[in-house]
Amino acid sequence: MRNLVACILLLGSALPAADLGGTWLMEQAGRGGSQVRKTYYYFKVEGNSFTGQMVSSTDSRKVQNGKIDGDTITFETLGAFNDRPNQMRAAFNGEELTISGVGGRGGRGGPPPAGAAGAAPGRGPAGAPGAAGAAIPGTVITGAAAAGRGPGGGRGTPPVYKKISAVAAIPAELLPTHKPLPSVKPLPPNKLALTPPMGWNSWNKFAGRVEDKNVREMADAIVSSGMRDAGYIYVNIDDTWEAGRDANGNILTNEKFPDMKALADYVHSKGLKIGIYSGPGRLTCAGYMASYGHEEQDAKTWAAWGIDYLKYDWCAASGVYTKEEHAPAYEKMGLALRASGRPIVYSLCQYGWLDVGEWGASVGGNLWRTTGDIRDSWDSMATIGFNQNGREKYAGPGRWNDPDMLEIGNGGMTDTEYRTHMSLWSMLAAPLLAGHDVRTMSDSIKEILLNKEVIAIDQDKAGHQGVRVRQDGELEVWKKPLAQGVAVALFNRGKDAAKMTVKWSEAGVTKKSPKVRDLWAHKDIQAPGEYAVEVPSHGVVMLKVN
Ligand code: GLA
Repeated sequence: MRNLVACILLLGSALPAADLGGTWLMEQAGRGGSQVRKTYYYFKVEGNSFTGQMVSSTDSRKVQNGKIDGDTITFETLGAFNDRPNQMRAAFNGEELTISGVGGRGGRGGPPPAGAAGAAPGRGPAGAPGAAGAAIPGTVITGAAAAGRGPGGGRGTPPVYKKISAVAAIPAELLPTHKPLPSVKPLPPNKLALTPPMGWNSWNKFAGRVEDKNVREMADAIVSSGMRDAGYIYVNIDDTWEAGRDANGNILTNEKFPDMKALADYVHSKGLKIGIYSGPGRLTCAGYMASYGHEEQDAKTWAAWGIDYLKYDWCAASGVYTKEEHAPAYEKMGLALRASGRPIVYSLCQYGWLDVGEWGASVGGNLWRTTGDIRDSWDSMATIGFNQNGREKYAGPGRWNDPDMLEIGNGGMTDTEYRTHMSLWSMLAAPLLAGHDVRTMSDSIKEILLNKEVIAIDQDKAGHQGVRVRQDGELEVWKKPLAQGVAVALFNRGKDAAKMTVKWSEAGVTKKSPKVRDLWAHKDIQAPGEYAVEVPSHGVVMLKVN
């Protein structure tokens, strides 16, 4: 009897191991062109251990350290761009397998969080809709996708996999189709974006709700508000405009953009330029059609529409390219844009991975993101902005570090904090891409975004990125050398107002009694030698000294 119980117990723990081996598939309703999105896991089981692979149209990760302990199945997944594996767990539910991340990690959609740049990010790129989470007309999202999560889950309904084969094998449709990419051959500058690009981008406010109508209205408002005349020229459509491809492989727009060429003509008729979005992978971050295998063709299509600016977002490209091919994949589009016959500003979006400043310009990039996505909060903005010190060596005319778009006017920060956001981005010679609803902008937001004296610092022709001169706890002094003079910013990141002092000699000003102007108060100041001033909590005093 005892033997029988032991035998049953043994069988009980042996069963999942036997069942786990093979290939598992989860299918999700697709977006943008309604391709079904497939995620495969395959597991090779040996005793109570297993290894394997996860492959989808948006990602590819090694499965490692798999352990089967009775009903408890755990493993890790590791992408080529991650230095920390995601902890995963699987459970049998009848014939099906549910696979989810442990502690909310594992397969979350989108790029890494802000601050992850430099070090390899903890979260893998891509997955399901992620930040968009927006209802896209004509798409049905179920299961994990409805919960806003990628393959691997996290919170929400755990993704359910069905076994499709007892053999572990990569499905042919997800194998990369490109020949190995040649290493980067530095491209000469394209002579565009000689000062940091300025304009508006749809993502921060509209995400998946961007459409022809609100882009036109935004263009109108950019003109009527005076933003255009202040320099905000680019009207950039971010992710979610794409549909599938036609029989000849030409990229199609979805129902939100009935005629992209007509929209571009409209934007151009307002004295503005228009930008678009894609990525080197099979799908974009929000799960729409991207440019993999169609780079030259897409660049030509955009040129024919009259596109002036491309944001090229990595996300799902980890599913098809190796780490060595990362920069070459960006150069592939850099070359395609140059061959398109139209000057197109090239914006790299890969969250600062692999020291992008070192090679971003050589692949044809005019700007490159240095972090994960910004959010409309003081913490997010300040963490990103004040962490840019040290990247100044990469910036210059035609080549800019991009700490992500502006959140000014989206409601999550005070006017004082938005003034700091505007000042800091200008000190950094960062692109100034507004991301709010321009149609309903308040007077105080308008005053912040249209402060011409601050914009002039951002747009200074010398193209130097500012640096931190001194940090006393939460008080920071920054300087930015200008073609004529120096911009000096006193930032108070603390919770209370604070008295701050700066000596001009610290900022590299040699004149004994320089001319000093307060760029927010719009007045000249008498301050020979040094200046002492009270700076509000989370606030800034920004000066031009020459
Ligand atoms: C990523 C980018 C964002 C935005 C979204 C669109 O998260 O970093 O700026 O483009 O993709 O899906």
